[in-house]
Amino acid sequence: MVSEDFLRFPEGFLWGTATSAYQIEGAWNEDGRGLSIWDTFCRQPGRIRHGESGDVAADHYHRWQEDVKLMAALGLKAYRFSISWPRVQPQGVGAVNDAGLDFYDRLVDSLLGQGIEPFVTLFHWDLPQALQDQGGWMNRATAARFADYGRVVGERLGDRVTSWITHNEPFVAAAAGHLTGEHAPGIQDPMAALQAGHLLLLSHGLAVEALRAATSRPLRIGITLNLNPVQPASDSDEDRRAAVRYDGAVNRLALDPLLLGHYPDDMLALFGLLFPTIKPGDLERIAAPLDFLGINYYSRAVVRNDPEGPLVEASQVQPEESEYSQMWEIHPPGMYELLTRVWSDYGKDHPQLRLLVTENGVPVPDGLDFDGRCRDYRRIRYLRDHIAQVHRALEAGVPLAGYFVWSLMDNFEWAHGYGMRFGLVYVDFETQARTMKDSGHWFGRVIRENGLDPQAGG
Ligand code: FCB
Repeated sequence: MVSEDFLRFPEGFLWGTATSAYQIEGAWNEDGRGLSIWDTFCRQPGRIRHGESGDVAADHYHRWQEDVKLMAALGLKAYRFSISWPRVQPQGVGAVNDAGLDFYDRLVDSLLGQGIEPFVTLFHWDLPQALQDQGGWMNRATAARFADYGRVVGERLGDRVTSWITHNEPFVAAAAGHLTGEHAPGIQDPMAALQAGHLLLLSHGLAVEALRAATSRPLRIGITLNLNPVQPASDSDEDRRAAVRYDGAVNRLALDPLLLGHYPDDMLALFGLLFPTIKPGDLERIAAPLDFLGINYYSRAVVRNDPEGPLVEASQVQPEESEYSQMWEIHPPGMYELLTRVWSDYGKDHPQLRLLVTENGVPVPDGLDFDGRCRDYRRIRYLRDHIAQVHRALEAGVPLAGYFVWSLMDNFEWAHGYGMRFGLVYVDFETQARTMKDSGHWFGRVIRENGLDPQAGG
């Protein structure tokens, strides 16, 4: 019996899961792969919890066939993964490593064989170290190299892969990598962060052109941003202004140039001379027409005015009454607020644009019970409540084409190492054994039924 409350999704809605190369592949020095900035960063003492690294990760490079079987068991319609640039171009430029491309070639064929649509992300943070040695994202030449790498991958996979994502979360790559230094390359310099942010966006525009030129097939190309609905911690003018600044930095600084063709005036005024030189033509390139916008939503940001806060003099507070995961506040309505806000602010200029939730998920401590089962009820509840908000946004008219859980399986969670588990599949990192968690079985049912009962499960 289908309950009256059952939330049905449109026919063809893309239910997927997401991963990234460095977080799952391992095989860091096999088959001609070059070094990435994450290989270097993980070897620096104190950077990663317990000194861990992605050297082995979930060993997906060797176990990908088993992993595709798990995806088939879930009934996935789509799978989002990233390509390791140093596997394809070990030096980030010039010579192509065929063995690296072959790996993705096989993966794509296998996905298509299972009826799973591949969503290829070109850059999920693992820049070739050789390019970092020449300034990385602070060097304009990297943007052109990225486009070149996009062309190489497009020429090889573009005959079969239709859906492409240039960058994953350029804001995080810029800010965590160059402002707070929590991520590779571990730089702490506001000017470097703003420069990297601009060049990441520029490289996106160049890669869109390169991908479209790489094949005569019509591709669907987008970019994935991490966005947060932002709320002031109080009604005070100071906190409200802080919330506007915070929103400017985490949301509008990427959305405006990509979708409106200019940087937000308030941010330009705030950053002043810290802001990089924008060359003629940059903004036109950044605003290259997109087929979809990928949105990663995990949590909202409640912020207060804080003169010590990095870059925009605002910092996050954690509301007392809320529920929390190991990393963030859990706030399902934020999903609806964010999706409707993006559509109302940018949709009118881009009626053809489709939105995709390219990541949503939660780190909660989980493990195998005595009988070998992983009863991760909190994850089920989190996913259920967020998917219900996605449905609410659809009903409000937001053109959403799909929803991807982060992540298919437990993996290397950057500076947190293996301490955070996000997977629908449990990975025992000693033996690499995989076990479908209860959340995986639950998500499989959501896919089969193309919807869910918002009261059931969890
Ligand atoms: C996102 C990243 C992804 C993963 C999740 C938890 O910011 O894109 O790689 O780390 O957070």
